[in-house]
Amino acid sequence: MNSTSSFSKNNLLLLNSYLATKPNSKRFILVDENTFKHCLPILIDNVEQLYGAEILEVEQGEKSKQLTIVENLCGAMIESSADKDSILVSLGGGVISDLGGFVASVFKRGISHIAIPTTLLAMIDASIGAKTGINIGEVKNQVGTFNTNSQTFFHLEFLNTLSKRQVLNGAAEMFKIALVSDEKLWDTMKQGKPWNNKKQGFDSKLIEKCIKLKEDIVMQDPLEQGKRKILNFGHSLAHAFESIALQKDSDLLHGEAVVSGIYYAIKLSNKKLSFPQSKATEICEYLKKNYHIIDIQKDIDLVINYLYADKKNINNEFRFILLEDIAKPIINYTISKEDLLSLRLTDNH
Ligand SMILES: NC(=O)c1ccc[n+]([C@@H]2O[C@H](COP(=O)([O-])OP(=O)(O)OC[C@H]3O[C@@H](n4cnc5c(N)ncnc54)[C@H](O)[C@@H]3O)[C@@H](O)[C@H]2O)c1
Repeated sequence: MNSTSSFSKNNLLLLNSYLATKPNSKRFILVDENTFKHCLPILIDNVEQLYGAEILEVEQGEKSKQLTIVENLCGAMIESSADKDSILVSLGGGVISDLGGFVASVFKRGISHIAIPTTLLAMIDASIGAKTGINIGEVKNQVGTFNTNSQTFFHLEFLNTLSKRQVLNGAAEMFKIALVSDEKLWDTMKQGKPWNNKKQGFDSKLIEKCIKLKEDIVMQDPLEQGKRKILNFGHSLAHAFESIALQKDSDLLHGEAVVSGIYYAIKLSNKKLSFPQSKATEICEYLKKNYHIIDIQKDIDLVINYLYADKKNINNEFRFILLEDIAKPIINYTISKEDLLSLRLTDNH
């Protein structure tokens, strides 16, 4: 799969050098209002090759991942004489990388795409692995592509303008990747607030490690037919919590839903598999200390209904990713309705 990323201190310098090898390409930069304000000036200051690039701006937030927006962006690019050699740079969080990646993969049957993630969630997760996604109505990611002609460039300075809530949102995916693939990494993370290094703001080593782990898993299974499914740890319940939040018009970020999903997946792992009690207690306590955990029993009927709607689940049984231990995931473990009904927000672990 020709989808690569590059993480180093001189990332934007590398991007500049890369663009210099494509002197005749027309460049477009996709932003939302926040990345226009906070990130675009830094990008243009550091990447001379992007002076004069055409700026395409959409509204921030999930509502921009729509087919009508895709059509508007393609129309704007045609008006600006974009051709097969044009390059689309997505400067933003997961919404911008999903949208820009999709547009680049379908415009003129595919043009080069460069993702420059500006949220922690997009760095750790959304900008790696080539998946793009567009929502249909309020149902997330129903249309998408594997965009194989995409590269990612990281620049940690962009994270400095993120709110604490957005940082915690991205950190959820750091916990997930550690729990499914690297116990030593979890042991380091649990000692503090791993996303935040007081002196430098962000712990670049931990962020880089998480990126590499995701890249390794994606490389082994680019089209998500086997191993890559472990990245969905905590996500079955998370999607149900997100759908309920959408239905009730309440404010819940993806990473916040993922943390609650992980919390209950750990409890199920302990109950159904050999996942050690002491580690389950430690993980659940850590997550509770740093996040608000959703009480699953509050809307358990809705949770179960949304799980039924998931095509993985058949005959009153649900398929979850569980852990035998940290870094020992089991794909498609069968969970019953009764297992879900027995889950509690607070008990002895
Ligand atoms: N394709 C994938 O593999 C994949 C994986 C995970 C998530 N996603 C998608 O990612 C999206 C969520 O991504 P997200 O959490 O980054 O959301 P987002 O893109 O909406 O960004 C969150 C908010 O932060 C703002 N922002 C971005 N960078 C900023 C900066 N540097 N300073 C200040 N504000 C900034 C944005 O304008 C937005 O308001 C969802 O649509 C989800 O479906 C995709």
